Amino acid sequence: MSDVKSIAVIGSGTMGSGIALTAAMSGIRAWQIDISPEQLEKAKVYHGRTLARSVEKQRMTQAQADETAGRIVYVQDMAEAAEADWVIEAALENLELKKQLFWKMLEVFREDVVLATNTSSISITAIAAEVEDQAPRVVGMHFFNPVPVMKLVEVIRGLATSEETVRRTTELAVRLGKTPVPANDRAGFVANRVLMPMINEAFYAWMEGVAEPEHIDEIMKLGMAHPMGPLRLADLIGLDICHDILMVLHAELGHEKYFPCPLLRQLVQAGRLGDKTGRGVYEHIS
Ligand code: 3HC
Repeated sequence: MSDVKSIAVIGSGTMGSGIALTAAMSGIRAWQIDISPEQLEKAKVYHGRTLARSVEKQRMTQAQADETAGRIVYVQDMAEAAEADWVIEAALENLELKKQLFWKMLEVFREDVVLATNTSSISITAIAAEVEDQAPRVVGMHFFNPVPVMKLVEVIRGLATSEETVRRTTELAVRLGKTPVPANDRAGFVANRVLMPMINEAFYAWMEGVAEPEHIDEIMKLGMAHPMGPLRLADLIGLDICHDILMVLHAELGHEKYFPCPLLRQLVQAGRLGDKTGRGVYEHIS
């Protein structure tokens, strides 16, 4: 059983805010860190809304919801979370940014702290190489959206990740109420390697007029028992995120089949990114 009592979560976007809430709901203190006060405020609103829903559905009492909310501290400076027992980086998918964050993490956190990243497609080995002799502490801890609901954590071992780091990560995932499943450090790991080509193909089917978007989704929902169709799921994930993951798969695995569909690229160029912008494949009213 993991003895982690507090976690620093770097980044307060969809994934980071979901991870911090999941930690707090598991009785773990969480620092929600983001340089943007607006992003922090958004995370706070999301936490409040989700906890209120849990009270409404009688999954917790108001007192428990207040206690859970009280476990999350919102800070702009990573140094304020220096006493954390664990750190999960969930910032933007940009290797340069992640390198800088990992250098700072080395300075800020204790040497026994695991340096986990929620990256969906960047190489764990490449991130770990930046911290040189500390690479055994670096691991991929890939959560799924919406984090409080989805049971999976892909645990990704980089070339230098130690056995102990993998064991502790697996234990923490269980403590967070998740099912950890191991995967090796290849582009997209397992989940996105399999999921993104399906989403891409759904955009091709739409572009080529095989069926309307809602019919493509209905077919995949009813025929394959998926909880939502691939185009609706792309809106949930973010069309820009899908596009960027496909670009990584294409660059790293070198196969044409991963190149993003022109229609997906066009929607991203138009700023139709999905739920987060109110419009993607579909219109979304929040
Ligand atoms: N945060 C917290 N809880 C949420 C939530 C969120 N963002 N979204 C939905 N929920 C909760 C709802 O409150 C509801 O709980 P309740 O009714 O018991 O209070 C429960 O989840 C079910 O939600 P809904 O009734 O609104 O709708 P559905 O039954 O359709 O479920 C869903 C929504 C859980 C999102 C479901 O459609 C689903 O599982 N979809 C597939 C999601 C998926 O595949 N995610 C993986 C994406 S890939 C990824 O993240 C990897 C990355 O690297 C790209």
